[in-house]
Amino acid sequence: MKQLLNGTFKGTIRVPGDKSITHRALMLGALSQGTTNIYRPLISADTLRTFENMRQLGAEITREGDDFKVISNGHDSLTSPEQTLYTGNSGTTTRLITGLLAGLKNITASVEGDATIAKRPMDRVVIPLSDMGADISLKNDKYPPVNIYPAVLKPLEYDMPIASAQVKSAILFAGLFTDGETIVHETHQSRNHSEIMMAQFGADISVSGTTVKLNGGSKLSAADVTVPGDISSAAFLIVLGLIIEGADITIENISLNETRAGIIDVVKEMGGSITITEHDSTGEKFGDIRVEYTPDLKPFHIDGDIIPRLIDEIPILAVLAVFASGASTVRGSEELRFKETDRITAVIAELEKFGVSFEEYDDGFKVSPGHSTIKQDQLFKGYHDHRIIMMLIVMAIAVNTNIEIDDSSAIDVSFPSFVSDLEGLRKDR
Ligand code: S3P
Repeated sequence: MKQLLNGTFKGTIRVPGDKSITHRALMLGALSQGTTNIYRPLISADTLRTFENMRQLGAEITREGDDFKVISNGHDSLTSPEQTLYTGNSGTTTRLITGLLAGLKNITASVEGDATIAKRPMDRVVIPLSDMGADISLKNDKYPPVNIYPAVLKPLEYDMPIASAQVKSAILFAGLFTDGETIVHETHQSRNHSEIMMAQFGADISVSGTTVKLNGGSKLSAADVTVPGDISSAAFLIVLGLIIEGADITIENISLNETRAGIIDVVKEMGGSITITEHDSTGEKFGDIRVEYTPDLKPFHIDGDIIPRLIDEIPILAVLAVFASGASTVRGSEELRFKETDRITAVIAELEKFGVSFEEYDDGFKVSPGHSTIKQDQLFKGYHDHRIIMMLIVMAIAVNTNIEIDDSSAIDVSFPSFVSDLEGLRKDR
């Protein structure tokens, strides 16, 4: 990482495609009749799990240069996989595919991921799916492997106990082919990519406030999907641009979907220099984001409705808080404890190694500005969590220190080109 220090970051860049949208496009392509072209998808460890899993179910999926092509004869043509569906590090694949398979009547399948997935709760999706009539077993009634057996599902009206797009989407996938109306009520609106894309593929779905209604039974037909850049990946460059002296970064074609764009609101409230140029689009909103170094950032306080809109950005927002003019707080984000790792514990443990001081809460933390120099031979932990690793790299650059991380390979989950993209933007000051 030495080559990234002692400079600034300037220029225009595109980050990889949106992870959530890519997973959904592959799944809906497999369930729909016809050819689905997915332009500029995220091609990463996580999305390649969904790619492979949908192939195992019988969809014909190919990589065409930077794009994916899915050819399917519709949901009825999918069959039980011969082998376990391996989902790697991907919680989204594991949870959404459980709902999708539950809805497919005649399928028997086993779903299993890596060591991080083995510790992630699946009962949050299996409880509502069982209410729909699904026959699913879990390890200790909570964890993968997930075994799914044939069952005929009925629609469900469900009050979500937590704001989770994965749970909402699993229920909606299961509801697609039931006879009747599935209704999901959310506490706070979570990302709505499933709702937008299901409508695009021909599902009868509507949204009013925090309630989603889906009438099952529509015949889904293939549709092309152009995947915008992932704002959760852009977030690392947004923060870098705000805190490195002289930085001026434009990130092109980023998803500006309101349910994902909470970080933009936070940066504006902090007084950060951020300019958004929206492009015309009929589906997901997207545009360019320009950030420039801002020396006098105000602290932020986030809680409630905004949390699902920036849940994956909280680790990197902790770094931004270190460079604000006062203490910042994150509350209402207990869901961080159920991500690839417990991100509240991981953020605090790793940033404390930089001398940052925190107060920990069950549902978040308070972070004070300022840091000190790291101890010699300090080893940093990545927890097999892409967002913790990229957070550490941005923090190290910001404090101009070379660090050693035990294992950085998980970056491949969402942003394989992260380090080379940073190298491309680096300029001498
Ligand atoms: C995702 C939903 C979120 C998010 C994850 C991707 C999705 O998880 O953290 O990275 O694509 O639906 P939860 O549904 O657990 O909040």
